[in-house]
Amino acid sequence: MSDSSVNLSGRRTFLGGLLGAVGLVVTAAAAWPVWRFLAPQSGAGELEKIVIARGEVSLEQAHFFNFHGKPAVVLQVTPGQFAAFSAVCTHLGCVVKWVPEKQEFLCPCHAGRFSTEGKVLGGPPPKPLELLPVALVGDQLQVG
Ligand code: FES
Repeated sequence: MSDSSVNLSGRRTFLGGLLGAVGLVVTAAAAWPVWRFLAPQSGAGELEKIVIARGEVSLEQAHFFNFHGKPAVVLQVTPGQFAAFSAVCTHLGCVVKWVPEKQEFLCPCHAGRFSTEGKVLGGPPPKPLELLPVALVGDQLQVG
């Protein structure tokens, strides 16, 4: 066997290995987004609780806050009894306002009205405000 045939065989082996490695990288790069889409996400659906000092929520008053990027509200309905809702109107998504003199929520967009329980009192909203779990732990309200 001549030097040139050994040299040529070595190049072919090297190029074959290089081509295989490049193929693996390209396949992995193409498969990664598919894997990320299909794989179950750890902790999916488990959002961190939002903590609000009890003193920030006065009796019969609403305290608006941000719940994982969306407006939300917590209300002290009776002494020591709290309720939390998404503040997003179920009609077309406007943010509701608290009307203390009427003890209800009003949507400024189309006059949808909601009770202190989040139920629809009037207007076009098709369903109640989304209820959020809230618990009083010591002097803190934990929402979520
Ligand atoms: S968006 Fe609230 S009533 Fe229409």
